[in-house]
Amino acid sequence: MAAASRRVAVLDRPAAYLEAGAGRPVVLLHGAAGRGAVWRRQLDGLADVARLIAPDLPGHGDTAGPGCRRIDAYAAWVLALLDALGLGPVVLVGHSMGGAIALTVALQSPGRLAGLGLVATGARLRVLPRILELFGEGSSRGWNLISSLSYSPRTPAGTVTDAEQALRETAITVSFGDYQACDAFDVLARLGEVRVPTLVVAGADDRLTPPRYAEALAGRIPGARLVAVDAAGHFPMLEQPQAVDAALRAFLAALP
Ligand code: COA
Repeated sequence: MAAASRRVAVLDRPAAYLEAGAGRPVVLLHGAAGRGAVWRRQLDGLADVARLIAPDLPGHGDTAGPGCRRIDAYAAWVLALLDALGLGPVVLVGHSMGGAIALTVALQSPGRLAGLGLVATGARLRVLPRILELFGEGSSRGWNLISSLSYSPRTPAGTVTDAEQALRETAITVSFGDYQACDAFDVLARLGEVRVPTLVVAGADDRLTPPRYAEALAGRIPGARLVAVDAAGHFPMLEQPQAVDAALRAFLAALP
């Protein structure tokens, strides 16, 4: 069944999200310059085991407003979204910048989470200076550089086109803010403080957040489980959706 497009007021402004399924709430956060629809395969593939909610962060997709320039600010918005939807402890899953946001929520407000999913992300997300330079100049050439590093060589062209669509629709000022937020993010020294059951998913061919970032997450977060997805780059949920669904499904089934 197709996901429903919904809206809710978050901090007095309308926010858009996609929703599918019923059961334990699982909130899926997109990455820099993305939108909730990047999780469309999971909204479809996991609807039999969870209530899946994939918001468009401020300034992205159908949620208007300026974006944020700090991961903490996005984390505060996500907590306000959980309040607005009246959600109790949720499983919070984030991709790339969304993973940084989810990790921040886990460190700041662990009582709001029943589980944490970290997909193609890291505890420190330094960004290539050239990417920041191009977006800072308002140049769309930043996308070419990001694209050249994003996918597994085995990913079909159609999937790449699909993944690129949302990115290139996002305003360059918002994208620049996202990459600045990533560049300033660093909780490597705090991973031992995470007290939420955690799943780490890595794309084996990821060059933007390479597998060593995932190994650091899984090695330092107590009890975390690592799943490496073969033939996937920085977008495993689109490049290998069935493997990501299987990892999330097993993780959800094992939660108390
Ligand atoms: N987890 C574990 N280790 C990490 C890490 C993470 N998330 N982030 C950095 N490190 C490690 C690096 O492996 C490196 O270790 P080393 O000294 O043993 O080689 C060290 O910390 C310093 O790395 P970094 O902070 O990245 O600084 P740098 O000056 O070496 O490199 C970049 C800067 C931008 C070139 C590099 O971070 C990079 O290539 N990033 C990926 C590309 C990108 O732009 N990604 C976008 C992310 S949203």
